[in-house]
Amino acid sequence: MCGISAYIGKENNAAEIVFNMLSRLEYRGYDSAGIAYVKEGKQDKIFVVKDKGMVEDVKKQYTPEHSDLCIGHTRWATHGESSKINAHPHLDCKQEIAVVHNGIIENYVSLKEILEEKGHKFISATDSEVLSHLIEEFYNKDDVLNLEEAIRQAIALLRGSYGIAVISSKEEKIVAARLGSPIIIGIGKDEDEYFISSDTNALLPYTNSTIPLNDGEIAILTKNDYKIINKDALPVQKKIEKILHDLQSAEKGEYAHYMLKEIFEQPRVINETMRGRLRLEEGIAKLGGVRMKKEEIRNINRIVFIACGTSLHAGMLGKYLMEEIARIPTEVEYASEFKYKFPVIDKGTLVIAISQSGETADTIASLREAKERGANTLGIVNVVGSTIAREAEKGVYVYAGPEIGVASTKAFTAQITALYLLSMYFGRIRNTISGFALRELVEEFARIPGKVSKILDDADVIKDIADEFYNYGDFLYLGRGYNFPIALEGALKLKEISYIHAEGYPAGEMKHGPIAMIDENFPTMAILVKDNVYNKIMSNVEEIKARHGRFIAIITEGDEEVKKILKGDDKNKVISVPKTHPLFYPFLTVVPLQLFAYFCALKLGRNVDKPRNLAKSVTVE
Ligand code: F6R
Repeated sequence: MCGISAYIGKENNAAEIVFNMLSRLEYRGYDSAGIAYVKEGKQDKIFVVKDKGMVEDVKKQYTPEHSDLCIGHTRWATHGESSKINAHPHLDCKQEIAVVHNGIIENYVSLKEILEEKGHKFISATDSEVLSHLIEEFYNKDDVLNLEEAIRQAIALLRGSYGIAVISSKEEKIVAARLGSPIIIGIGKDEDEYFISSDTNALLPYTNSTIPLNDGEIAILTKNDYKIINKDALPVQKKIEKILHDLQSAEKGEYAHYMLKEIFEQPRVINETMRGRLRLEEGIAKLGGVRMKKEEIRNINRIVFIACGTSLHAGMLGKYLMEEIARIPTEVEYASEFKYKFPVIDKGTLVIAISQSGETADTIASLREAKERGANTLGIVNVVGSTIAREAEKGVYVYAGPEIGVASTKAFTAQITALYLLSMYFGRIRNTISGFALRELVEEFARIPGKVSKILDDADVIKDIADEFYNYGDFLYLGRGYNFPIALEGALKLKEISYIHAEGYPAGEMKHGPIAMIDENFPTMAILVKDNVYNKIMSNVEEIKARHGRFIAIITEGDEEVKKILKGDDKNKVISVPKTHPLFYPFLTVVPLQLFAYFCALKLGRNVDKPRNLAKSVTVE
């Protein structure tokens, strides 16, 4: 949510570098963009180019000129509509200081009042503008120019969260600080240029050496050096971390959209997440990062998953898995609710935070709450080195690689892969699953990537169905048991990228209300695979048919019973998926739902990778 980038160094096209970095961060927010830079040889003035709209549109307003330091921002509006005035960077009254900010300054109203009383003139409706004026207050005091000291004093007064990058026309440096919103420093290859970014994707074309800032740290970058200090101005020694994925993995390649590429990457991603963890010969699953003694695993008396959005749906599936395979009572909590509901935690509670980005503010806040209340914590995270990855006591990385499409797809299948592995691992240690049953699961699990590939090979069938159904305004998604979270996830995908209203429901609940909505204008997506609730959902489908509702059913290939219902009926459609063990259908049912949402959005001309109002990582509570 909001992307920050900055450059200082030997290249005299800093502004272009920052624009390029911003375009790689745009999935974090895209309602306005802007840069601030100092021209080479004109150290006394800050130049700003900013406006409403996408990075590439704003860039058209920039005339290339020599600059060797620049900060930039791509915005997801929180306070103040999307407009040129509210776009970052924000300047102080003297136009000597420029600030880009990600996060929310919760006490901005009172700070603004104090600053206005002191004569500061505000021009935007944002919370962020208080930063430039507050820093101005502390800057140049007693004739000492020290931007980092002014920032250190200013941020001590803030409540809320921030990742900031700041420049002054009086000093050749960029200063960045963080509390709750990610800031990553990139170290140029010859240590003669430095970068700042909200995540590693924007750094990839330039360097793979990074230093993620921790909360409370301040980085001071000059052309040929960098320094990190803490809130007491004491130097902090930090290790340089390498980005593990390559540039290509963050590119779209031959695909029309990142989302499509990411959907098609799923067989590989499941394989990568399983690699070394699913032991076919031994018939077991093993997870190194869990670092729990057998006794500790046996003593878990309750699991609580905390997550948001798609990751929450992964957690909901995790609950079914943990309860069936490892026999551990499990709850799933919206991370945005968990922290504020005085959660009951004891020593036997394992709190598992699931997050693609590892930077979701609600999930981080809940993880911290859980730790404070004495829970054991574990993170299931995609982005290496992210806040949740660092703050959870134990961790399981999922190997989805960079996910750029705002709607999450491959991260979800990677997360559920980790959850299957984790519940099998716990089940074995707790002796709640027999060696024979576990071996059967392990063997079938290994076949899942191949089965997902088969569905992807037939993507055109789903496209044809989407071409017929994309014009409806509403959809009901039904699933039961393991496929209930998948119904929720399918509905979320459709809403996010096509803006078609969709509701996910546990199929058994249909008769308790939602059935009232069914008519010829309200189609249903029913997950009707051969598992233990097949007959029940079949009845739901009959009930829909009897009320003239259209439906699309996701069925197990070769299912003759469904075909009988559909005989002579071309109004309703089926999507076949390969047969698998009932436990593993979610892998095979979610993929057609992702593709269906994608093709509907495509047909409706939506911006698939950057749907309106959304941002990839939600770094504000
Ligand atoms: C949905 C989506 C969001 C995220 C949610 C959590 O497609 O992308 O719902 O799943 O914002 O994000 P992470 O997993 O990064 O914590």
